[in-house]
Amino acid sequence: MEIDRVVGGVRHPSVTTDEILEAMKTFEVRQDDIWVITYPKAGTTWMQEIVSVLLNGCDFQKADEIDIRHRYSFLDIVHPGHVCPHVKAASKPSPRLIKTHLPSHQMASEIITKKPKIVYVGRNPKDNAASLFNFHHSCNVLRTYESWDVFYKAFCAGDVHGGSWFEMNLYWWNKRDEDNILFVKYEDMKKDLGSVVLKVSEFFGWEIPDGKLEEVVKHCSFSSMKQNPKTNHTSSEWMKSAFMRKGEVGDWKNYFSVSQSEEFDKLYAEKMKGSGLTYQYEL
Ligand code: A3P
Repeated sequence: MEIDRVVGGVRHPSVTTDEILEAMKTFEVRQDDIWVITYPKAGTTWMQEIVSVLLNGCDFQKADEIDIRHRYSFLDIVHPGHVCPHVKAASKPSPRLIKTHLPSHQMASEIITKKPKIVYVGRNPKDNAASLFNFHHSCNVLRTYESWDVFYKAFCAGDVHGGSWFEMNLYWWNKRDEDNILFVKYEDMKKDLGSVVLKVSEFFGWEIPDGKLEEVVKHCSFSSMKQNPKTNHTSSEWMKSAFMRKGEVGDWKNYFSVSQSEEFDKLYAEKMKGSGLTYQYEL
């Protein structure tokens, strides 16, 4: 079987089956679902952990009872021979935790009418690309690019897992003022995680018990999540290396040449023109 193919203009790994993409057209969304939506490698797992912890009243043990991969219905992929996540999700009790990277034209269409609460995490595209490049190498179900240069061109063209970074970010950025949507930037989480945790708790209407905010920040720090087997799977049938890699802002400098960086800045200006969406590339 081919490792990936293009469906509806998006390169999907074969584990994102036609059945899944078809099912998203009629997948029943619930108003009280909790969705974490991201372009792949933008900080999904980080936000998933924050949401889990807050949902469980900052009881870390309870939040981490189940591996993060199984706490959320990750709608996009299925192991060969297993039941599709959307089928399993249909019988889960509310509130369901759901994660997806699917582009707007392929995600569950009812998301627009049912308006569940959605947290979107965006990350500066250069770090996002560097992280995705590494992920393509460490994840068995994704294509391995022969070099950074080849990957860079594919990323600019939106011909990678996740499709066009520009389209996805623009779509959610344009929805940022809707009541059921919270748009968060990875770089803001790095700068001041406490403020982002507070924003998330206010968005959902969840109280943080007195004195617990600092503990949440510590629990969700990179070093703590790296040591936590429930958030950092170090090996699995899908992964050749540990999931938690560097967790930094600015690692892109180890990948982009000066000319690629300049060329990318021009592409960003062209694609995101008039949107007002800006990202920080170093802190
Ligand atoms: P790097 O590859 O740059 O290290 P996703 O969960 O969407 O797949 O994103 C993974 C990226 O988020 C990885 O980036 C990972 O290290 C980073 N990440 C995960 N948890 C983090 C945390 N607590 N703090 C900072 N970065 C984190």
